[in-house]
Amino acid sequence: MKKKFENNRLNEYRELIEKELEQSLHFPETDCKAGEAMRYSALGGGKRIRGVLTLEFCRILSGGGNMDTAEKALPAAAAVEMIHAFSLIHDDLPCMDDDDYRRGKPSCHKQFGEASALLAGDGLLAAAFNTVASAAFLPKPIKPQNVVSVISSLSNATMEMIKGQQYDMDFEQSDKDRVTEEELLAMYNRKTCALISAACVCGAMCANASERNLHNARSYGFSLGLAFQITDDLLDLKTEKTGKKTLPLLIGEKKAREMAQSYTDAAVKIAENLPHGDFLKELALSLISRQI
Ligand code: IPE
Ligand code: IPE
Ligand code: MG
Repeated sequence: MKKKFENNRLNEYRELIEKELEQSLHFPETDCKAGEAMRYSALGGGKRIRGVLTLEFCRILSGGGNMDTAEKALPAAAAVEMIHAFSLIHDDLPCMDDDDYRRGKPSCHKQFGEASALLAGDGLLAAAFNTVASAAFLPKPIKPQNVVSVISSLSNATMEMIKGQQYDMDFEQSDKDRVTEEELLAMYNRKTCALISAACVCGAMCANASERNLHNARSYGFSLGLAFQITDDLLDLKTEKTGKKTLPLLIGEKKAREMAQSYTDAAVKIAENLPHGDFLKELALSLISRQI
């Protein structure tokens, strides 16, 4: 019964995010290939974990009421998903991971060509900040100082993600034994955890959270983020191209699984100390056993 309730909430959040993205990425011009590519990559796909985290942190830190209390964080949730989609478009480009498929369909550059994919990524980054700014003018607006804090948090996280992506590329080109476990984890913290953590923090900011809860949101995001990236690496073990440096390849599958479990345990512990933290606890536990 509890599980069903939690899953319902997950699906409701996903639907809300999808609708918000659809509205935010509605372009009057129908003949712009880059615009089409933005919609192709941002809409109708993905697990929406980051956006869900934003909405749930806003809900629980606004008193843990119904979905209405989460909705004020929708522009921030959509913005996080846009930045994530931008990062994936660029990550798949031939000059980076050179992946032909994303979310079960051709990657953006395969569908629209490299130039339009590059522009679509750029466009999604710009649209993300425009979407957050619009939160100051909603019928139930976010306080202007919180909008500025969200913008600042997202831009810092994006910069961290970019640094992490740079290190990922650098590691790929370096000799395998020169990359240590600490270096890999520091790279994961940047390329994956920074945005996941910002997603949590931005939800908390929309709820006008205390410093202590902003700190808890941040810590939960970093623990969950590490578990998430290690799980992603484990799922990729069979398909990953040679050259990519990942934790399971460095320390072995068994040890990597144990690490993913211990970061999940850390996230669960934080969730247990948050008000109304049940959903965040279940989410952390479900992500480690996911198949996609
Ligand atoms: C993929 O992220 C990239 C990583 C950081 C591991 P997700 O697994 O969240 O991708 P989508 O949004 O569900 O496609
Ligand atoms: C995805 O990272 C991009 C970012 C984290 C910014 P990966 O290269 O590890 O993930 P997949 O396997 O392409 O989804
Ligand atoms: Mg990749």
